[in-house]
Amino acid sequence: MANYSFSRTWQSQPMSARVIRLFLGITWIYGGWNKATDAGFLNSASPHYIGEQLKGYLTTSPIHAILQHMVEHASLMGWGVMLSEFAIGIATLLGIAGELAALGGFSMSIILWLSATWSVKPYFLGSDTAYAILWLALFLSIRQSARSRRITSIIPNLKDRREVVRLIGVGAASVVAAFAGKKFTTTNPTPEAGAAIATLADLPVGATKNFQAADGRAAIVFRTKAGVFAYARICTHQGCVADYDSASHLIKCPCHGAAFDPTNGGAAVAGPTQIALDKIKVAIKGNNIVQI
Ligand code: FES
Repeated sequence: MANYSFSRTWQSQPMSARVIRLFLGITWIYGGWNKATDAGFLNSASPHYIGEQLKGYLTTSPIHAILQHMVEHASLMGWGVMLSEFAIGIATLLGIAGELAALGGFSMSIILWLSATWSVKPYFLGSDTAYAILWLALFLSIRQSARSRRITSIIPNLKDRREVVRLIGVGAASVVAAFAGKKFTTTNPTPEAGAAIATLADLPVGATKNFQAADGRAAIVFRTKAGVFAYARICTHQGCVADYDSASHLIKCPCHGAAFDPTNGGAAVAGPTQIALDKIKVAIKGNNIVQI
């Protein structure tokens, strides 16, 4: 195995592959960081919990039998996904075991496509197919350059002590990044249940108001002649924050086009989910609208 040189790993690639490598490396690290700094990702009481996300895919995914097993070990899966994202991103940027990292990124993208974005129609609105193709292109580019240097194996040479040290370094950096992310988690102070969301004067009949629910979720309250009702604005597909669209009278998710009907119990009426929005209990008390 040739001696490792960080700059040579970049110089030996064509510009097109460097652009893809930089983008994918940064994006995968960012993906890991997003999970590491999300206080709810590994918290089973949170709506962001990895287990809740996996459960949401069960109804539509062609690999639901495998996902069912993952739900049973959701926290472990969450750690695995987070550390893998860090490791793949770091290895990609540093050019350490680049082919394996690209294959790892490709595999993750395929699994995400078969689970998280399988029901996104048309397919090009889901990002995972594009990521899978980018990882495949990067893998082929690295393979081509390795072949020209007569390197046939894509497995790192574990007899080379320096190579082993570099791999351990990537693993250690991933663990450090995951724990560092935990230090940056932010827990917003949440209003108490029973605290006023709005006064009746602020929210006349026909109006809506976004608010933060007592459990911390983004939510929206509606006031109609019949009274008040509210929903969490967390999309039941992959957890993006949806917004009320007054033109269509639907709560729409900007990520993959899900739409929910607030006048029909928050039912999903379009997009890749069939699960209704969560209801938040609210009531009129005196001159205020409160969460109960
Ligand atoms: S998160 Fe995918 S449609 Fe909302």
